[in-house]
Amino acid sequence: MDVRHFVSIEDVTPKWFMDLYSVCRDMIQNPERYVDACRGQVMASLFFEPSTRTNFSFQTAMMRLGGSVFGFSDPSGTAVAKGESLADTIRMVSAYADAVVMRSPFEGAATAGALYSEVPLINAGDGGHMHPTQTLTDLTTICEKRGKVGGITVGLCGDLKNGRTVHSLALALAQFPNIQFKFIAPREMAMPGYVLDALREQGQRYIEVTNLESSIPQLDVLYMTRIQKERFTDPLEYERNKGLYILTRRKLDRAKEDLLIMHPLPRVDEISPDVDGDSRAAYFDQARYGMFIRMALLYRLIHTPRQAASTAYDLTPRVCGNDRCITKTEEYLPNLTKGRNGETVCSYCDNPISRWVKKT
Ligand code: NCD
Repeated sequence: MDVRHFVSIEDVTPKWFMDLYSVCRDMIQNPERYVDACRGQVMASLFFEPSTRTNFSFQTAMMRLGGSVFGFSDPSGTAVAKGESLADTIRMVSAYADAVVMRSPFEGAATAGALYSEVPLINAGDGGHMHPTQTLTDLTTICEKRGKVGGITVGLCGDLKNGRTVHSLALALAQFPNIQFKFIAPREMAMPGYVLDALREQGQRYIEVTNLESSIPQLDVLYMTRIQKERFTDPLEYERNKGLYILTRRKLDRAKEDLLIMHPLPRVDEISPDVDGDSRAAYFDQARYGMFIRMALLYRLIHTPRQAASTAYDLTPRVCGNDRCITKTEEYLPNLTKGRNGETVCSYCDNPISRWVKKT
């Protein structure tokens, strides 16, 4: 597969991932071979939303490849604060850099940014939509710990509605053979329709449940997530749901001996510190593997031939009905749609086109 940008997990096939993982393995075992692999190359790091792990792991990944990094982690000191459009920011930054890593609070922002970038653009999280490089981290962790990805029962637990990591992970895992899903969440925080539709389209089965404890004994992987406080528009809804799922050492009594306990981090209270010493806790290793798979991704994309940004788009003015879609703030964006399960959806945020409204 030829991926010049890395914006959506839907571009990832098992073969593409396994090829990338084999480079990552070599980087873990022989880091000295790669110290000059991106010498003279520059990575732009544009974080319009807070981050610790993702931002630092991309920066250290580029430095370990011999490249250098510039960027911001707070847009208030940049021209964006003066009202510069995303398109202009990306055009300008992609003239300076050899790769752009971007995180935004808006869904579909990376897809939008990639339209204007002549260098590889990597989605480091677009609002509550997707987080494809976290998924590379998660798949790497499963491979490192279990030897392969397929043939597992996976429980995804917590804020499945707003947690972008679980959207990307479910879509990616569904491509691998024999995956059973248990989505563990209250109804208010259930997996969004676009993910469930995509799974159904592939004939992937899943079960939605609310109880964590009774689900644990069947699982090979338990992926805990934080309730995404910053994405709640109603503070009372957050109050109702916080602290709902807390994994403790006691709840692991009936778990498999080779269970993998994962978390994208940061955690709040959903994994009690008494689990950290359990040999099944994989979340700190997971953070470390993230740096190596991001090294492999940067290495691959930076060495892929460049491509001019495209310009031929349908510019019929429309705006997506999803308030969190990037088209809400960047109104000049072309009208891009795609088909899913016989329905037409917004190419930026994956919401059904029936929810689009024409701009006045
Ligand atoms: C996640 C994110 O930003 O979506 N963190 C990360 O990138 N490692 C998970 C989260 O914030 O809960």
